[in-house]
Amino acid sequence: MVNTCDLSAGAKRLEKVEPSLIRTILDRAAVLRGEGKPVIPFSAGEPDFNTPSDIKEAAIRAITNNQTKYSSNRGYPPLRKVLQDYIQSETGISYDPETEILVTSSAAEALNNTIMAFVDEGDEVIVLTPAFVSYKSLVNMCGATFVDIPLDASRGFQVDIDAVKSAITDRTKMLVLNSPSNPTGAVFSYESLQALCQLAIEHNFLILSDEIYSRLVYDGAEFHSIASFPGMKEHSIIVSGFSKAFAMTGWRLGYLATDRKLLGHILRVHQYSTTCSPTFIQVALAECMNSKQTQKQITEMLEAFSNRRKLIMSLLDEIPALSYSKPYGAFYIMVDVSRLGMTAMEFSMKLLEEKYVATVPAVGLDEHTGKYVRFSYATSEENIVEGLARVKKMVEELHL
Ligand SMILES: Cc1ncc(COP(=O)(O)O)c(C=O)c1O
Repeated sequence: MVNTCDLSAGAKRLEKVEPSLIRTILDRAAVLRGEGKPVIPFSAGEPDFNTPSDIKEAAIRAITNNQTKYSSNRGYPPLRKVLQDYIQSETGISYDPETEILVTSSAAEALNNTIMAFVDEGDEVIVLTPAFVSYKSLVNMCGATFVDIPLDASRGFQVDIDAVKSAITDRTKMLVLNSPSNPTGAVFSYESLQALCQLAIEHNFLILSDEIYSRLVYDGAEFHSIASFPGMKEHSIIVSGFSKAFAMTGWRLGYLATDRKLLGHILRVHQYSTTCSPTFIQVALAECMNSKQTQKQITEMLEAFSNRRKLIMSLLDEIPALSYSKPYGAFYIMVDVSRLGMTAMEFSMKLLEEKYVATVPAVGLDEHTGKYVRFSYATSEENIVEGLARVKKMVEELHL
């Protein structure tokens, strides 16, 4: 018997997984940079800071000391203990480090493992959009139905609880939440989160809460973990990681926390995919994620993000044809370009090709916000000033 399938076609589960628009922009920006063009990067969700020095030194020490073998599948025990305290300080909930915390190689892995562990073909997963690109692809890879609930741009991208309510069916398995949000910068109110939790308990579905931007909140906005609401430990999986607040994107370290009954399923996916995260990185974080020097560097980074946010808003205020939704968290701002008579895609491409400023059109992050362009302000004040001057020039040249 000879198998007649087309090997070059790839697995069926990939058919609904679209290529990432962000990648297209980043790749084109890289080509322009390679040609020597002075590209200003407002595109990547990546802090431009260095990883805290204590963590770097501890990782080098761990390698020198041969802490280079496998660790426990669940993660290096001392790191899980440190994470228990860290998560408790953020959520008020104590997760057992033996059975309820899993160290992963990035938040991306934690999201993948969680969705793979719970979502079946035919299930429905509600995602509040615009949202981080991975959610849709992961849901599609499982053959489940992606139920897209648009956030209300006119209300600062806050949740419309009635819209969520009416999307719930007996096939709803999960709702994916991300507050503070990429790409909108919105921080969901306590009342909205409380209402979502009530729905999860009443209708018996899980909330996968991506809390990777929890420390990046501004102007008195408060982060509330979904786990902090009554009864939610058994109905939620909280995911986070070190890429953003610790400036550790390339290290690929994250974690998740949930009730032990749920974690067992996720552990199985983790075990048979990554086995465990790099041991020396876990050792370095266990030793130094709370060191004085690390905390000082993190505080400095958070202050810098806060200043950059104010700077980019004030420079956008000088371009009356553009408006924006005021962000309260993460390091993104959504700019409405519709008054220029252009789509977000046209604006982003024109800005990149003509002025060498890289941004991300919000199309692809959902189906609805064709007029919003995401600017990431995880870049220097000099870049923000220069980049916004170029945006202003491009808008002026349109002679509206
Ligand atoms: C909302 C959100 N979740 C998860 C991630 C992925 O983080 P990590 O680098 O830990 O995979 C990102 C990265 O941009 C993000 O914006």
